[in-house]
Amino acid sequence: MTETEHRIQSEYETLYQREYAVLAPDMRRLYENAKRDQWNASRDIDWSQPVDLDKGIFADGLIDGYGSEFWNKLDEKTRRELNVEFSCWRISQLLHGEEGAMLACSQLVDMVPTNDAKFFQSTQVVDEARHTEVLSRYLNEKCGGRIYPMNHNVKHLFDYLLGQGKWFIKTAGLQLVAETFAVGLFRMLAETAQDPVLKSISKRILLDESRHMGFSVIGLPDMIASLSPSEMSELEDFVAEACRLVLRGQFPREAFEKIGFNKSEIDQVQKIRVESAKSNDYVFFRQIFRREMYTQVVSNMKKVGLMTPRTAENLRKLGIDPTIDGRAATLESQPGA
Ligand SMILES: [Fe+2]
Ligand SMILES: [Fe+2]
Repeated sequence: MTETEHRIQSEYETLYQREYAVLAPDMRRLYENAKRDQWNASRDIDWSQPVDLDKGIFADGLIDGYGSEFWNKLDEKTRRELNVEFSCWRISQLLHGEEGAMLACSQLVDMVPTNDAKFFQSTQVVDEARHTEVLSRYLNEKCGGRIYPMNHNVKHLFDYLLGQGKWFIKTAGLQLVAETFAVGLFRMLAETAQDPVLKSISKRILLDESRHMGFSVIGLPDMIASLSPSEMSELEDFVAEACRLVLRGQFPREAFEKIGFNKSEIDQVQKIRVESAKSNDYVFFRQIFRREMYTQVVSNMKKVGLMTPRTAENLRKLGIDPTIDGRAATLESQPGA
C-alpha cells in the first residue's frame, strides 16, 4: 500500500429495488435538476487563464493568524507564500473529502430504499467524481502539484462513514453535516477568492453541493421519524461528532512548516486560531459567512427532525446557537455594516 491509499472494511446490505413508480416526487425533481445541471470540468472551466501565485489564492482574511501581531510582523513575500501554501492545504482537504464523498455515494446507491433516491445518488457519484477531478487538476496544473496529505479529522470522518452499515448515518454525516458546511465554504470562496479560476470552480461546485444538501433534507425526515430511541441517540451523537470533526482540528500545520516557521511560532498561530474561533474575531466577510453557515446547519437539522434537546445542547457546546435566526444573517443587521 502506498502513502496515498488505504483500505476500509465495509459491510452493508444492497437493496435490489424493483418498484419503479415515482414514490417521492420531490426526490425525482432533484434528480431532474441534477441531469439538467451537469457540467464538464474539461470544457466549462477556462484552464487557459493563468493563476498568479505571487498574488495569492484565497482572500488573506481566511488565513489563520491574519490580522494578528504574528501576521503584521511578516514581510509581504512571506505573506504571499503563506497564502499559497495555506490555500493549497485547505483545497487538498476538500479534494480528499470529494473523493470520500464519491465513495460514500456509490455505497448509498446500493443502500437507499427507493429508486427515486437511488437515481439521485447515482448522479451524485458523477458529481463527486467531477469535483475530485476539477480540484486535483487545479492543484496539479495551476498550483505546482501542491497536494497535501489528508488531515486526520477528514480521514476519521470518512473512514467512519465508509465503514458504516446504516444509510441514514452516512447521509447525516455526508449530505447533512459535511455538505452543509461545504456549501458555506464554497460560497465564501466563490465570492472572496483572489484567484479567478478558483472562483469559477467554486461557483460550479457550489451549485452541485446545494443539491446534495437537498438530498438529506428530502430523504431523511421519514427515516428519522421512524427511528427507535436507541437509534436516535446514536444518530444524535454521531451528528455532533461529525460537526466537531468538520469544524475543529483542521489546522494546516504542514503549510506553516513548509514556509519555515518553527514549532513555537506555529503553536502561537494555533492559539490565535482557537481564540479567534471562540470570540468570532474574524474579518467581517468571514463573520457573515460563518453566521450563514451556522444558520443553515440549524435550519437543516430542524427540517429533518433532528433538532432534539440533545442536539441543541451538542450544538451549543460547539459554539453554534440552536435558536439562531435566519433573518439575522444579513449584512444590514451586523454592526458596522
Ligand atoms: Fe462535492
Ligand atoms: Fe457533494
